Amino acid sequence: MTTIAIDGPAAAGKGTLSRQIAEAYGFHHLDTGLTYRATAKALLDRGLPLDDEAVAADVARNLDLSGLDRGVLSAHEIGEAASRIAVMPSVRRALVEAQRAFAARQPGTVLDGRDIGTVVCPDATVKLYVTASADVRARRRYDEIIAAGGRAEYDAIYEDVRRRDERDMGRADSPLRPADNAHLLDTSKMSIEAAFSAAKAIIDAAL
Ligand code: C5P
Repeated sequence: MTTIAIDGPAAAGKGTLSRQIAEAYGFHHLDTGLTYRATAKALLDRGLPLDDEAVAADVARNLDLSGLDRGVLSAHEIGEAASRIAVMPSVRRALVEAQRAFAARQPGTVLDGRDIGTVVCPDATVKLYVTASADVRARRRYDEIIAAGGRAEYDAIYEDVRRRDERDMGRADSPLRPADNAHLLDTSKMSIEAAFSAAKAIIDAAL
């Protein structure tokens, strides 16, 4: 069984890279951020509180992993709410259990998130830590929104990226950090194609 673990901060390009890698190797892909987002959305939709750990964990345990859709879950409010419930240990336990079951699928899987190489799949075949400077990540997110015809303010996006980093790296349970044996990939000065080639070379050398 082959598992590829891809971690990194918000807007580092993990999502695109993970999808491309899964396609290239014929593996199943799980964007674990969507499991936190879907849990948060279910709470918001039902008018349930975001600060009650038992309630949030109950929703997380009953989450259906099939049919998670980033389009439906991309709203800024959902991302904020997701990063708030992601600090709760019993929410993480419930979602990690579902993520590990996914990781066992044949012929192989790609999981991307914040704690895949450190907590979810510590024995992953290959671990990548994909990062880029906060400025580059905020700029990419800004360009994406503008290209999609939306309105955005760079400074607000930059602040958002910084706040999300602080929360993800500073939390007590499963903080974002590279696993000891992760390959670091800084995409600040790389195109999507260059990042994919670099990742593929690392994976091919390990398989
Ligand atoms: O990656 P994405 O921005 O969709 O993730 C939303 C939030 O879910 C992140 O800010 C992070 O707090 C949380 N998350 C996590 N562990 C993961 C994936 C996401 O804590 N493996």
